[in-house]
Amino acid sequence: MPTITINGRRCEFTPGQMILQAANAAGVQVPQYCYHDALSIVASCRICLGEIWAPNPRNNNALEPYMGGKLMPTCQTPAADGMVVHTDSPKAVQNQKQVMEYLLINHPLDCPVCDKAGECLLQDYSYEYGRGVSRFEETKVKQPKKDLGPTILLYADRCILCSRCVRFTREVTGTAELLIQGRGNRNEIDVFPGKALANELSANVADLCPVGALLEKDFLFAQRVWFLKETPSVDGITSSGDNIWVSHNEGRVYRLRPRENPSVNKWWITDEVRYGWKFTQREDRLRHAQRRQFGNLIESDYRRAVEVAVEGLRQAVEGGKRLGLLVSPMLSCEDAYELGRAALAIDAAAVLAVGPVPTLGADKVFPPNLKADDPKAFVMRAEKAPNARGVRRVLEALAGARGAKSVLSFDQFLAYLRGGSLGAVVLTGNYPSEWATEELVKHVGARHGSSGSNPLLPHGAPFMVLIDTLPGPLVDGASVVLPGAAWLEKAGTFQNCRDVLQAFAQAVPPPEGARAEAQIGLDLLAAAHGTAQVEFSAAATRSEMARGHVALAAFGPITVPASRAESTPDMQVVEL
Ligand code: SF4
Ligand code: FES
Repeated sequence: MPTITINGRRCEFTPGQMILQAANAAGVQVPQYCYHDALSIVASCRICLGEIWAPNPRNNNALEPYMGGKLMPTCQTPAADGMVVHTDSPKAVQNQKQVMEYLLINHPLDCPVCDKAGECLLQDYSYEYGRGVSRFEETKVKQPKKDLGPTILLYADRCILCSRCVRFTREVTGTAELLIQGRGNRNEIDVFPGKALANELSANVADLCPVGALLEKDFLFAQRVWFLKETPSVDGITSSGDNIWVSHNEGRVYRLRPRENPSVNKWWITDEVRYGWKFTQREDRLRHAQRRQFGNLIESDYRRAVEVAVEGLRQAVEGGKRLGLLVSPMLSCEDAYELGRAALAIDAAAVLAVGPVPTLGADKVFPPNLKADDPKAFVMRAEKAPNARGVRRVLEALAGARGAKSVLSFDQFLAYLRGGSLGAVVLTGNYPSEWATEELVKHVGARHGSSGSNPLLPHGAPFMVLIDTLPGPLVDGASVVLPGAAWLEKAGTFQNCRDVLQAFAQAVPPPEGARAEAQIGLDLLAAAHGTAQVEFSAAATRSEMARGHVALAAFGPITVPASRAESTPDMQVVEL
């Protein structure tokens, strides 16, 4: 493999790579603003300039100054075998200081009130490459703040005109809402008159912006970023499997941002994924276990509610009817596995089904001129559930000898309900909004309407254990309600629409009283067997799945990506 020496480090590179790309791949630090792996190269910010020596084949491959010894943009200069590059030489460092001074001339230096402070390249490079003082005494040019669209605000006087945002709307979304207008020090980012920045990927420009010029409205002044911890996770509301970072502090989520994965979501997420987690913080989340007593739902001790659930499910099966388990496609594979095991322990012939899979419109491709299977395309998925395939895969493995066809779709499950052969059901939801269809409510929700008789003796509608996160019409018909945990509040694995299995870590704890569905499954199982409760561990469940079922062997090697290492400041912190 050809090699290049950058700041004294020998780096291998692939022919065609730029010097900066080789440096980034090898972990050699070179300052960069306008360069981004996903965008075209414009070499406009000039901070990555380096001194380059290249072997001259006409002079016995002796090293000679490249392009007459001028400083060259490393982001735009192809790496060549044997090159020697310095971005730490006196000449290159002098350029970095001049670029920083130029970029900061009209900058308001308002870091204390800027949301980007703490993760801003202008701040970082000021510290590393800038001057300690400003020599500029004239009046700064003031630029306006602008509302660019539903998600983004522009603080124009912080902009360094790297044009990443403009290139994003042209090259990635194909919507081209942003432009640079004006001349000289009046240059500014803007939208075309009457056309807001309102595409489905709009908020990615805030992540792309290396400084605090483009900010997310939703995160504005919400939290200083140095208080946030970042947990690796996966999109939990659509089938895309987009990789995300969950930023949280003291048990509360503040934002989701894309986690780079070139083979799944590249560098981006949709605004739908970015903001779709808000239901997890709804005030009316189900927070208490409930069981029915004398016709009324009462708050219950969790263990007692689990016992009542198992007792009711058993009675139905002993009465000659079947137990039906409906596993929501919003749940993880581990949830499906533990709930499935519990159902089969109570009724070995239990009916297993996958819950309704919501869809909205058709898949949307960005930019629109590409096909969905083009490696450069980003696809927004119409299927609004993260794990329909994973839940089915796990239930089919558990159904085993009965054959894959024995795992029902939601419509087939409804047909079973209509037929009256189900004496008890365990229903799981965990959708961001109301999910129970009228027909489902009609078949399972009328039981406690007026009779007030013994709730453990089915008469008509089946005995229902509801495991869900939000209140809905099903609660009225439930015999036992067990609050579940949203995906940010537990660990697990999703199988996306392209059948990629991806594990995610727990970012925050569930609300008090709620539990991961896998934990509820384990507790139901322990109550059914009369054994001690076991604490759920996603990794342990995955290895058990892989050991016990050939069809689930792929879960064995799956691990959660490493969390972001917390950076330690190199300055002394004094406790006051
Ligand atoms: S707003 Fe941000 S991303 Fe856009 S040109 Fe300015 S600095 Fe670059
Ligand atoms: S990163 Fe090379 S010129 Fe901007």
